[in-house]
Amino acid sequence: MNRRTFIRTIGGTGIVLAASGVGLASCDQMPKSAVAAWEGPDNGLPDREWMLSYAMLAPNPHNMQPWLVDLTTEGEITLYVDPERLLPETDPYGRQILIGQGTFLELLNIAAHEKGYQTKISLFPEGEPKSGSLEIAGKPVAQIKLEKGAEPSKDPLFRQIPHRRSNKEGYEEQYLAQTDRDALAGLRLNEGERTGFATAAEDVAPLREFARKAILMEMETPRTLLESIERTRIGADEIAKNPDGIDLNGPLFWWLKRFGLMTPEEAMTPGTMAYQGGIDYAMGWVEGTHNMGWLVTKGNSRSAQVQAGRTYVRLNLMATAQNIAMHPVSQVLQEYPEMADIQSEFNSHLGIGPDETVQMFFRLGYQKAVSPSPRRKLPDIIMG
Ligand SMILES: Cc1cc2nc3c(=O)[nH]c(=O)nc-3n(C[C@H](O)[C@H](O)[C@H](O)COP(=O)(O)O)c2cc1C
Repeated sequence: MNRRTFIRTIGGTGIVLAASGVGLASCDQMPKSAVAAWEGPDNGLPDREWMLSYAMLAPNPHNMQPWLVDLTTEGEITLYVDPERLLPETDPYGRQILIGQGTFLELLNIAAHEKGYQTKISLFPEGEPKSGSLEIAGKPVAQIKLEKGAEPSKDPLFRQIPHRRSNKEGYEEQYLAQTDRDALAGLRLNEGERTGFATAAEDVAPLREFARKAILMEMETPRTLLESIERTRIGADEIAKNPDGIDLNGPLFWWLKRFGLMTPEEAMTPGTMAYQGGIDYAMGWVEGTHNMGWLVTKGNSRSAQVQAGRTYVRLNLMATAQNIAMHPVSQVLQEYPEMADIQSEFNSHLGIGPDETVQMFFRLGYQKAVSPSPRRKLPDIIMG
């Protein structure tokens, strides 16, 4: 968080934090219950629940955790989209939500292998939802059949799952080392997928500009801004109650909230500290971007979207192993009308073909590890 900006602005309001009797460093810590999932599941859990506990650590849009699983058939897991957890304004066709099903599926697969299972995964066993619509719930995204048998090969990325983050800080002004680029180049791609990386000043500068313009478009368009604000949890109490969405905690937010400066109305009103703080925060990490990457698929089928999620999280885990920070910046890829012009310039800048789709656009770089983001409890995603 760009705390300096907030602190400066608070200074202007005349609020003297130090005058309070409350210990600043200790108030409003991230509630332990909201991040307990990152400590790993209890080994006594039944196998499917154990694997699902790892799958729930997947990166996903706005941390909405839009997953539902059906466990009624022994030896199987059926994955559905949770229709209550969509992002209709910024993700009007559910493309990003389906990428977030793919990230979940891949971690589930890695964890199943770790537990000694072979897996047979069928995507959209009852047919793909149609494109160009948000009707992505109701029918299963994937059916995972688990079989004990010949020892499956364990994936070395398993041990990175609890350490993976989307690191939203500004990164050090440093270009990716050749050894790190080589390590990421080992990413296994599905048919039709390709990646691109910008790791030199002249290549990154125009991409940073696209990211900046797209973020401003999202934040200056009231209905897309509102979508984020409605999913923001401010302070430990709110986060403990709803361990999802965009989480803001710590003494600064505690005080801002206490003085009525962090309400949804304030955040929606240009000129207020909450509104400007949000923009300054985003511009802070745009500035702190010195390497970028993107993942492209041929076509844009529902299966391609899910597979892109599987590939993206593998890259995120590989980066974790190399101590490389990653952070998706998806605004320019979003399919609402106000973004269309910026998006088409972006696609031509990157040389994206007419039958190709950029599924993920992300920052890469060096920065110290950040704390994990909240997760709901496993029973919250189990159907029935
Ligand atoms: C498809 C997709 C799109 C995302 N887009 C953004 C984005 O535009 N901005 C952002 O800050 N994070 C983005 N994220 C990252 C999520 O916010 C992050 O995964 C979530 O908050 C959980 O945090 P974690 O990855 O650290 O576990 C995206 C993640 C996915 C899978």
